[in-house]
Amino acid sequence: MSILVTGSAGFIGSNFVRLLIDATREHIVSLDALTYAGNMDNLVNVPSDRHTFIHGNICDEQTLTEVFRDHAIKKVVHFAAESHVDRSIMSSGPFIQTNVVGTQRLLDASKSHGVEAFVHVSTDEVYGTLNLTEPAFTEQHHIQPNSPYSASKAASDLLVRSYVETFDFPAMITRCSNNYGPYQFPEKLIPLMIHNAKNNRPLPVYGDGSNIRDWIHVSDHCKGVLCVMDKGKAGEVYNIGGHSELKNIDIVHQIIDACGADSSLIQFVTDRPGHDFRYAMDIEKIKRELGWAPEVSFSDGLSSTIQWYADNSDWLEKIINGDYQNYYKEQYQ
Ligand code: NAD
Ligand code: TYD
Repeated sequence: MSILVTGSAGFIGSNFVRLLIDATREHIVSLDALTYAGNMDNLVNVPSDRHTFIHGNICDEQTLTEVFRDHAIKKVVHFAAESHVDRSIMSSGPFIQTNVVGTQRLLDASKSHGVEAFVHVSTDEVYGTLNLTEPAFTEQHHIQPNSPYSASKAASDLLVRSYVETFDFPAMITRCSNNYGPYQFPEKLIPLMIHNAKNNRPLPVYGDGSNIRDWIHVSDHCKGVLCVMDKGKAGEVYNIGGHSELKNIDIVHQIIDACGADSSLIQFVTDRPGHDFRYAMDIEKIKRELGWAPEVSFSDGLSSTIQWYADNSDWLEKIINGDYQNYYKEQYQ
């Protein structure tokens, strides 16, 4: 029997595959379309006797039929998605296709196959935004997404919910806050700032840098998802977060200090349209019901992440020197 992991060549999916290798004895079948964010270098050193990689798209019914026909899949953990807010503002089509249509196709294939458990990996961004004084999001908070990315994830969450209600489908939804750590694609805040600070390039801070995110190390997120896969109750939503709310500008200063860069590199640039002000997660439910809690402090996690990018400069340069250049120009110039 195998566990199917979608989006396994991306940032969180690849970290999750490595966790499954270390923490379980299961065989892992992993499926990824290898979009700009998917990278086989993220899966180096994953032992091939425990892992079968399939290059394929979750929107493709034929591929899904073959995956379920050829492998005895008992559980599905669904990470595959278009994941970057700024790209969803440039063009929302791929987000609807993968995040909504792809999730529907995967749900249908998983339902026909009769899987034991389906974990849908979602985001705190479906809840919308908070002001400074509002309490953190609980699982009961209304769904009010503000970007095409978060709207597409919210749509997929609602589809998953409908399969639970209509078909008694054994799905659980996790909603996590902002991740950072090894193998994150450098379009996201932390790796982008690390790379630019190390290379003496401008550090583009949107607006005045006062927006707040709740940061979690990817290893903690992956352990939370595994915990939900093993012990979660069908039909339930579980928030996952790092208990680490920080302003963007404070993170940028921490990166500058850790990299020995100069704060004159900071450039305040035009704000992101519809920029959510604050995300904060109430994680009491998963702590109480499943016994999971984050373990990595932000300061330790940031130092080890900066060290990881220094030790893996080949990995980073290969990305930076590819199509990323075009994206960077379009987004920042
Ligand atoms: P990522 O962009 O690094 O990786 C996404 C992966 O999905 C890539 O490998 C890509 O090739 C693959 N993919 C995209 N479209 C596909 C398709 N149609 N078929 C098959 N594979 C496809 O994203 P990530 O940061 O690793 O996020 C993974 C999941 O976690 C997403 O669902 C995201 O919404 C969710 N999430 C991310 C964060 C975060 O901070 N990064 C926080 C909460 C939730
Ligand atoms: P990001 O990493 O894109 O994650 P998300 O939008 O999903 O929270 O951005 C994190 C925060 O950093 C967000 O408030 C936008 C801000 N940001 C910048 O100020 N400059 C940048 O170049 C990027 C990529 C993000």
